[in-house]
Amino acid sequence: MLQHINTIIERNVNLSQVLHEVAQILHAEFEHFDWVGFYLDDRKKKGYLKLGPFIGLPTDHVSIPYGKGICGQVAVSLQTFVSQDVSAEDNYIACSTEVQSEIVVPILKDGVFVAQLDVDSNTKNSITEEQIELLETICAKLSILF
Ligand code: SME
Repeated sequence: MLQHINTIIERNVNLSQVLHEVAQILHAEFEHFDWVGFYLDDRKKKGYLKLGPFIGLPTDHVSIPYGKGICGQVAVSLQTFVSQDVSAEDNYIACSTEVQSEIVVPILKDGVFVAQLDVDSNTKNSITEEQIELLETICAKLSILF
């Protein structure tokens, strides 16, 4: 799978297409990845994330302020955030009542936050250490596109 993702990144048709294809691959590969998408730093609205390519049900949260929800917190902390049970989070934005666990991995370009990968799962405690590592590796590779 990583090989496939490398090829897509190297081919680099355009940023949206690459992110869309990567989301598609992750969504297809892992049964419990129910929503896979990207939020990008909104260059037109300072301090906000804007929704990028995603696979899964549409979300109302197309614009999220830095600091708000798991996504907004990652834009500030620049650290991967894993919640194995989102009902335990006090700063959380529910995109769907089905979601039980979530991981958000930042994408940094020369140390500067540019985007993030967000994966929602409808199963509690479903995100493994191996998956965390894989998603971080993918995000590190994607940073060359920004
Ligand atoms: N749950 C996220 C919002 C994004 S949706 O899951 C697509 C959050 O708490 O920031």
